[in-house]
Amino acid sequence: MSLNAARDKPAERLRVGELLANANRRLADGGIETPALDARILLAEALSMEPGQVISCGGEIAAGEAVKAFKAMVDRRLAGEPVHRILGRREFFSRMFHLTPECLIPRPETELLVERVLEDVGPDTSARFADIGCGSGAICVSLLAERPGLAAVATDLSEGALAATRENAKRHGVAERLETVRASYLENVEGPFSFIVSNPPYIATGDLAGLSREVREHDPQLALDGGADGLEAYQAILSCAPQHLEADGRLYLETGHGQHDAIMQLAKELRWGIVSSHLDLSGLERMVVLEKR
Ligand SMILES: C[S@@+](CC[C@H](N)C(=O)[O-])C[C@H]1O[C@@H](n2cnc3c(N)ncnc32)[C@H](O)[C@@H]1O
Repeated sequence: MSLNAARDKPAERLRVGELLANANRRLADGGIETPALDARILLAEALSMEPGQVISCGGEIAAGEAVKAFKAMVDRRLAGEPVHRILGRREFFSRMFHLTPECLIPRPETELLVERVLEDVGPDTSARFADIGCGSGAICVSLLAERPGLAAVATDLSEGALAATRENAKRHGVAERLETVRASYLENVEGPFSFIVSNPPYIATGDLAGLSREVREHDPQLALDGGADGLEAYQAILSCAPQHLEADGRLYLETGHGQHDAIMQLAKELRWGIVSSHLDLSGLERMVVLEKR
């Protein structure tokens, strides 16, 4: 066969099962931690089906466009882009959140904070709260969607993150109860609030370089960098929140690994009442609940 003949040959007819096996192999060789799962999710996206359906379609021939799209997605994954960044969405608290490059991919650990607030406020609450550093809106939109009596103000320094929050609020039917404000923490934001929630940036600047490539290169630095000791945002929030809270108002904070004691110390110095601390499913200190004194 001549080279030209090879060049002129029609597009390869690939079966779904072959595509999956090839991608699995490439991702495994490229050092990706969960190659089979990632390959299945990306192939499902390219074929516009649910990941669970991919296996049962193994013998079917994939359309050329889907093959091209899938290969491009696998290349991006091999270059270190996380699966959810490639998809542009992530599920959080059983709802799908649209992502932009300016917002953190919401993490499952953060669901703990949502659960704890929902328990505290009960089913029939009518209250106004603030979400500092809303990112995709995962926390505030979930709370608003779960409790129709709540209204909220969400702040972020990133206009792209605020746009994602607005888009997600619209998708989940809560936009009319949410105000988004570009602000540092709660600067120029009118309280008082019944409670304040925040999952602030908490990685010490010196630790950023040691994060996985997926996080370091694809989550926005503004969402990660917590200053020299990782505690800058906590210091700022613990200092400004009392002026924005009603009497006995609560502050729910996600905390980073190894930061719990330092945050408790700061909270005591700033005269907060300590309500509780909570571990995540891996047994790590993950959040604190404080009360205005
Ligand atoms: C760790 S991310 C959390 C995002 C989202 N709440 C979540 O849990 O997925 C922190 C967020 O805080 C925002 N941020 C950083 N500094 C801020 C500041 N001074 N004021 C308000 N938001 C800030 C970042 O842009 C980012 O969206």
